[in-house]
Amino acid sequence: MLKLVVCVSGGGTNLQAILDAVDRGDITNTEVAAVISNNPNAYALERAKNHDIAGICISPKQFEDRDSFNKAFLEKVNSYQPDLVVLAGFLVVIPELMIKEYRNRMINIHPSLIPSFCGTGYYGLKVHEAALARGVKVTGATVHFVDEGTDTGPIILQQPVMVKADDTPEILQRRVMEQAEWKILPQAIDLIANGKVKVIDGKSVIVDV
Ligand code: GAR
Repeated sequence: MLKLVVCVSGGGTNLQAILDAVDRGDITNTEVAAVISNNPNAYALERAKNHDIAGICISPKQFEDRDSFNKAFLEKVNSYQPDLVVLAGFLVVIPELMIKEYRNRMINIHPSLIPSFCGTGYYGLKVHEAALARGVKVTGATVHFVDEGTDTGPIILQQPVMVKADDTPEILQRRVMEQAEWKILPQAIDLIANGKVKVIDGKSVIVDV
């Protein structure tokens, strides 16, 4: 049984997609042990509660300095002994120690086709604003393992999504979620839970679908 900790900061639609996929049996051999948010007002915490899953808030604002937060955050995650940490719209920089400890055991969903529109400063709506400003005709989403860089880890799954002429960032964001994120994040978890994902040389991923 793959034990997950899901880290969130906002609405939690990706968390919901995971919970629904577990309930439907689209994700097998998996349980969500806890949901951790840095934001006390994240609706994702409601979603956890509605599902009888522990929802915890741990915010950098509760600590004197970043090191103290990083230490407490890692301890909190470790307390659930997860097999996989899922960053589902988690907008906090992951401490380096945690990246080492969870190498190839921590995944992130990013709302573009990496390496486009990713890295520092590209998160949430900003990603879609940048895609529209550049005039790309295809965008999408990526699930990848987390390494020391920002959005640079081994790619597990990607799903393209068409951009339409009259898209606003909000409309495009919704389409990318519906057609890509809510599908490939649960799919990646199911593949990992069933031993079908292998990282080669810390760079590329072989997916046995
Ligand atoms: C999602 O679009 C996710 O891909 C993005 O934040 C949103 C969270 O929505 N993550 C990033 O931009 C990370 N760089 P949600 O809270 O409804 O799942």
